[in-house]
Amino acid sequence: MKVRRSVALGCGSYLPNLVLTNAELARKVDTSDEWIVQRTGIHERRIAARNETTGTMAAQAARAALAHARVDAQTIDLIVLATSTPDNTFPATAVSVQADLGINHGAAFDVQAVCSGFVYALATADGLLRSGAFNRALVIGSETFSRLLDWTDRTTCVLFGDGAGAVVLEAQELEENRGDRGLLTVRLRSDGRHKSKLYVDGGPSSTGTVGHLRMEGREVFKHAVAMITDVVEDAFKATGKTVADVDWFIPHQANKRIIDGSARKLGIPANKIVITVDRHGNTSAASIPLALTDAVTDRRIKRGDLLLLEAMGGGFTWAAALLRW
Ligand code: UT7
Repeated sequence: MKVRRSVALGCGSYLPNLVLTNAELARKVDTSDEWIVQRTGIHERRIAARNETTGTMAAQAARAALAHARVDAQTIDLIVLATSTPDNTFPATAVSVQADLGINHGAAFDVQAVCSGFVYALATADGLLRSGAFNRALVIGSETFSRLLDWTDRTTCVLFGDGAGAVVLEAQELEENRGDRGLLTVRLRSDGRHKSKLYVDGGPSSTGTVGHLRMEGREVFKHAVAMITDVVEDAFKATGKTVADVDWFIPHQANKRIIDGSARKLGIPANKIVITVDRHGNTSAASIPLALTDAVTDRRIKRGDLLLLEAMGGGFTWAAALLRW
C-alpha cells in the first residue's frame, strides 16, 4: 500500500534591508528599549521599503525556496500565499507571485488567517496535493504589517515587522511503512467570539478604507499559551508522536514570553526552540517560514528532523503541524 504525502523540498525567506531598532521607536512614541525587550523579547524589526510589497517580498522568498529545493519554477502547479496585508483587495497577491515567477499554469490564491496563516496555507496545500489535484506547491507567508500599524499607538507599533518566507512542498507516493515522512499532520482551530480582541478597524465592505491594527494585547496573551498547547497536544494525539520525538520547535514569533510559556507547558527544552522574534518582531504569517529558513540555513535543522510548528493570532485562529523535514 502506498500513501500520498506532502514532502518539503526546501525553504527560503526575504527580509527588507531597513532595520528599525527599539531606540529609534523610543524617539517616535513613549516607549523604551527596556520595556520592549522585557515584555516581548524584541530588539529590532525590518520595515519594507516604499517599492517593496507583500507580493515582491513573497516572490523573493519563493525564488530562494526554489533555489534551495533545486527545482524549476515551471514545475510548480500550486501557490498558496498566507497574508493579511495583500497588495490589493483583489486579485490575490499569489497571482502576482505567479506572474513574477513566469508561471501561467496551475492555480494561485491567498489564505487569510492572520498569524496562523502559514499553518492554514500548509493545510490547504497539503489537502490539494494529497487529493492528487496538484503535484508541487509553493506555500508562502508574506506580510507588510508596517502599513497596517498606527504609528502613534505604542501598544501595537513596537510589536510588528515585515518579511516573507516560503516552502516548496511536493506530493510523493510513499510505501506505507515509510510513511513517517513529510507533513504528518496539520490541526486548525478558530473561535470568532474573540474577533474584536485583535482586528483591523477598516476593510472594503465595512469602511471602504484599509484601517489600522487594534489589539487588546493582555487579552490575547491570556489565551495564547492554553490555545497553543491544546492544539499541539492534538497534533501529538493524531500522530502518536510525543514531545520527546520533536527535534525543533518552530513557534509563531509574537512574543518571547508566549513562546517560553508554551515550551515550558509542553516540556520542550530551550535548546530546541527556534527564536527570531528578537530580530524580526512579529511578522504574522511570515514568522514561521522565516524562522524555519533561519534554522535550516545555519544547519541547526537537518534532513529527517521532526519539526513542530504552531501559531495563534487574530480571529482567534490557532494551529499546529508536525513536519518531518
Ligand atoms: O501574533 C498575534 C498574537 N498577538 C500576540 O500574541 C500579542 C499578545 N500580547 C502580548 O504580547 C502582550 O500583551 C504585549 C506585549 C502586547 C503587552 O505586554 P503586557 O505585559 O500584556 O503589558 P500590558 O498590555 O498589560 O501593559 C502594561 C503597561 C501598561 O501601563 P499601565 O496601564 O500598567 O500603566 C501599558 O500602558 O505597559 C504600558 N505599555 C507600554 N509601555 C511602554 C504598553 N505598551 C507600551 C510600550 N512602551 N510600547
